[in-house]
Amino acid sequence: MAQLWGGRFTKETDQLVYNFNASISFDKKFYEQDIRGSIAHVTMLAKQGILTEDEKKIIIAGLEGIKADVENGTLEITEKYEDIHSFVEANLIDRIGDPGKKLHTGRSRNDQVALDMKLYTRDEVTAINELVKELLEVLLHIMRENTETFMPGFTHLQKAQPITLAHHMGAYFEMFKRDRSRLADIYQRMNTCPLGSGALAGTTYPLDREYTAQLLNFDSATLNSMDSVSDRDYLIELMSACSTIMMHLSRFSEEVIIWNSNEYQFVDIDDAYSTGSSIMPQKKNPDIAELVRGKTGRVYGALTSILTTMKGIPLAYNKDMQEDKEMVFDAMDTTKGCLALFTGMLKTMKFNRERMEASAKNGFTNATDAADYLVNHGVPFRDAHGIVGQLVLHCIEKNIALDDMSLEEYQKISPVFAEDIYEAISMKTCVEARKTLGAPGKEAMDKVIAINEAYLREEKKWNRN
Ligand code: ARG
Repeated sequence: MAQLWGGRFTKETDQLVYNFNASISFDKKFYEQDIRGSIAHVTMLAKQGILTEDEKKIIIAGLEGIKADVENGTLEITEKYEDIHSFVEANLIDRIGDPGKKLHTGRSRNDQVALDMKLYTRDEVTAINELVKELLEVLLHIMRENTETFMPGFTHLQKAQPITLAHHMGAYFEMFKRDRSRLADIYQRMNTCPLGSGALAGTTYPLDREYTAQLLNFDSATLNSMDSVSDRDYLIELMSACSTIMMHLSRFSEEVIIWNSNEYQFVDIDDAYSTGSSIMPQKKNPDIAELVRGKTGRVYGALTSILTTMKGIPLAYNKDMQEDKEMVFDAMDTTKGCLALFTGMLKTMKFNRERMEASAKNGFTNATDAADYLVNHGVPFRDAHGIVGQLVLHCIEKNIALDDMSLEEYQKISPVFAEDIYEAISMKTCVEARKTLGAPGKEAMDKVIAINEAYLREEKKWNRN
């Protein structure tokens, strides 16, 4: 047991208590952030004359040595230490002796862990944002290639009106674009530095908190030391944003699973992203999409967990807050993993364009356009609706599409129909006529694609690290 606080105690900590209390098994994940924060802290202490320049240099060299040795495998982060902060400090003292004992001047583990968690999370926000951007690039590519790939659009999972694959992918583009904007908000709102808040009430040393904030690329220092050590809002916000990303991925996965089914065959998932069955040789399963859908529950769990942990905690730091880590780390990793895998699956997926177009034709998705044709020839809409209903019934009986009916058959149901009905209800006409902004017509779609191309080219102003 290696801990930082034996002085006032007369008994050794019980082993079970020690184990229950310790966090090293999971907070070792942010050893790099802990060292980064400590380097900024001692740099500031020296600037303020609290440490000498020599002490600063020795401490920083020691900290850099620890980081290098952890990374090259010569120094293992073991459970001998209570947490990552104790591990770093104890190793520093082992390496450089007395100057190492000055590292923690004007600092508490409360503001230290608040900083480490923020630094770690800020890096994660950036990484998740990059992965969402990669997914958007793939989506935009598919959109560009498929502005004339016709397919049925669904409501209630029933074929409704014809759309294009570009339009369908465009819906996901908008969803993931909103996800990025949520991440940008979180980054901007969380980007204040808690270091220098001490245990809860600041310190008596003349720290320059703004300087530390600058060294660590924060926009500013936090303004209330009690809030600083007990704010975990940004984790709740990130878990909410990750839950929404997962919800979007899950909906998308569900569609991929349906489209990949024997009945639909709209897509072919690449062999590299499918798995077989141990008993049924014919099977090629969409396991990746199913797992992404399944893992959504874990991320929702992390959101519920952090909300519940934070509920009812009085100011300022309380040990409950150590529970902010395991599920949140898991949710960050899960979201990143799912984004990367889904993007890879989408990139290699083949779209079966003929099946999609045939499905749109066979599902009477052009029935609304047939009714509009009648309306354009003076028939009141309600009557037109009834007439097209009869056409559909006729087609169902004969097992054909509206496009396959002869002109005589049309005219038997309504004499208003003429030769140009075929042109009026062709997939191309039905889609092209929908030109309003946001609709599937090629003209409208090209405009949206251009807007989204410009959006992806834009510099990310919020991320300066
Ligand atoms: N392991 C602790 C955590 O994650 C670090 C802060 C400990 N502070 C304390 N007063 N016990 O929250």
